Amino acid sequence: MHIHLKCLAAAAIAALSLTAHAEKVHISTPGTSLLLDATEGKPLKFVYYGDALTNADIANIDAAGTPSFNAYPVYGNNPDKETAFRAVHSDGGMITEMKVTGVTKTAADDGASVTTVRMADTLYPFYIDVNYRTYPDEDVIETWTEYTNKEKGSVQLTRFMSAYLPIRRSDVHVSQLYGSWANEGIVEEAPLPHGVKMIKNTDGTRNSHTSHGEVMISLDGKARENEGRVIGAALCYGGNYKLMFDTDDSDYHHFFAGIYEDNSPYTLAKGETFVTPPLALTYSDEGLSGASRSFHRWGRNHKLAHGKDLRKILLNSWEGVYFDINEEGMQQMMSDIASMGGELFVMDDGWFGNKYKRATDNSSLGDWTVDTAKLPHGIKGLCDAARERGIRFGIWLEPEMTNSVSELYEKHPEYVIKNPKRDAIQGRGGTQLVLDLSNPKVQDLVFNIVDTLMTAYPQIDYIKWDANAPIMNHGSQYLTADKQSHLYIDYHKGFEQTLKRIRSKYPDVTIQACASGGGRANWGVLPYFDEFWVSDNTDALQRIYMQWGTSYFFPAIAMASHISASPNHQTNRLVPLKFRTDVAMSGRLGMEIQPKNMTEKEKEQTKKAIADYKLIRPVVQHGDIYRLLSPYDRKGAASLMYVTPEKDKAAFYWWKTETFCNQQLPRVTMAGLDPAKTYTIRELNRVDTVPLPFEGKSFTGEFLMSNGLEMPLTHTVEWNDRNDYSSRVLILEAK
Ligand code: GLA
Repeated sequence: MHIHLKCLAAAAIAALSLTAHAEKVHISTPGTSLLLDATEGKPLKFVYYGDALTNADIANIDAAGTPSFNAYPVYGNNPDKETAFRAVHSDGGMITEMKVTGVTKTAADDGASVTTVRMADTLYPFYIDVNYRTYPDEDVIETWTEYTNKEKGSVQLTRFMSAYLPIRRSDVHVSQLYGSWANEGIVEEAPLPHGVKMIKNTDGTRNSHTSHGEVMISLDGKARENEGRVIGAALCYGGNYKLMFDTDDSDYHHFFAGIYEDNSPYTLAKGETFVTPPLALTYSDEGLSGASRSFHRWGRNHKLAHGKDLRKILLNSWEGVYFDINEEGMQQMMSDIASMGGELFVMDDGWFGNKYKRATDNSSLGDWTVDTAKLPHGIKGLCDAARERGIRFGIWLEPEMTNSVSELYEKHPEYVIKNPKRDAIQGRGGTQLVLDLSNPKVQDLVFNIVDTLMTAYPQIDYIKWDANAPIMNHGSQYLTADKQSHLYIDYHKGFEQTLKRIRSKYPDVTIQACASGGGRANWGVLPYFDEFWVSDNTDALQRIYMQWGTSYFFPAIAMASHISASPNHQTNRLVPLKFRTDVAMSGRLGMEIQPKNMTEKEKEQTKKAIADYKLIRPVVQHGDIYRLLSPYDRKGAASLMYVTPEKDKAAFYWWKTETFCNQQLPRVTMAGLDPAKTYTIRELNRVDTVPLPFEGKSFTGEFLMSNGLEMPLTHTVEWNDRNDYSSRVLILEAK
């Protein structure tokens, strides 16, 4: 397997050109342009971001009226404005004033090119580089900054945004994702008023439960899925962040995004450079779905680990047995998933602990030795059992954490995050503590957890990497007194360093980012992970809403989506297997259930559904998304589809989201097809006793996109099997 860790590759960068007196700098992608004025000796000016510009337009763009804002505003002169950067210089000076000194364009790996505008302060030997990375085939621009201190002493950075973008006021709406544990990725949209709108996260370790570091900015009023101009922005960072819109009297929304500076002033010693995480920007005139497609393609091709491969269909043990792990139970689950056509079994929490056994969530994290009372033949026995059944084996770890009840903590109490002079606050189970990844010894420890396991059992195919606690005490027993405020940032530097080491030694293992469910859905960590757990809530109905929002920024291949039990363990809702499966099939399909409790009929149905999913797996996991009918519009149904780039195959999903007698539901028109192609329709995961009227029939893309197909409101099934849900998955194949 080949791994695509573009963030990791710093090497192979060759200077292409150096333009000493650059003026207009055109950062272009196939469909978009970002234009700057980088006149040497002057501040760097933002000119334009949007649809691709021609040279003729560029020549006259100033006459058309352009904003007069610096592209990377810094604090000091005219201090009444919000800025992207603030610092206290080595002599106590509060003013930074940057002038352009040059522009370089370099070729980076993966076909990317990086344009760097170099700036120097007018008084201090302090330098800011503003960088823009583009790829030949992607409509995404990654932008980030680097600060270098060559002053005679330290500079204290008090704000360090990755990027700034001025957006002209009109009827601008912002869509964001908010939520909480078990309710992640919920869409909220609102027009931008005057004043400040801020989206932030201060969890410390994870960052996407309650808010997301990504937004869609719709320029033409309420966002539409397949029409209208949209700017998408995704901060590629796993730690505390801040996205801020400051709308002032200039008729502009000033958008800033970066690491949240709150409680994190950062001292940059003489000679040091601070690099911000990138902000990924995209622009589309094909609505929200258009912007999503650009993020998904860019993400799969250049960010996500193994984004060009396909994912295995798995069974995870968590909701099936929780902590009640034993060899016989694991083997039974392996047999069941293998017999239904699955390809991987993942043993979740509860398998470890020697002196302290992991019986529930209050002990043993850090003691990653197998509990032989539960698993007499150890991990090797499980790997063998999986191999015998023709499937692969995966395992749960929570490497960044420990419990105060653990051998690790007894040996190394100095490894946990806490103020050196105060007691630690303890989290999950009343005993969970976060390991201090700012400490290089802890980074080694975390690396060794994975290394030891993978060295002993190279057959391990998959790791579910969990993180179930935020930073609960601001303090480090490792950082010096003057650097306590570096904790939030250095934790993530350490985390990334460790993941880089793991990935360079184990490029092929699949790793899931889980963090009490969907706490780690962000493009900062995904270069090291193959996927993320969308939520601990597996209720199919609520998942429609969560996965819908999550799909704004993240592709289906990365969204772990599992069939679970009914009644659902989180909502207690009774949902038929057909519907649970149809929702799970719209992401990276898996199961999170005790198959022992399924009837033979249910197992047979699932086996067929898994076989059907395999037919559309490449379409779902590598295709382009077209969201059609939003569950948030409360029209009684939701619908989306994936289409291959060649437009020869598509997978269509339709789910009823509420049931009222004789409520008519809107007829959904499709999108993304080739109007001239003729598609044959077949239903997948069919439970009806009679085929749909259009089963096996062919229609042009033109017809499907202007008329669509009428979805029956109910299923035609035996009387006893009737229920209040209805859903459809269709495969469309061009002749
Ligand atoms: C977290 C995860 C769950 C499960 C448990 C195990 O809550 O999100 O999926 O792995 O931990 O303790």
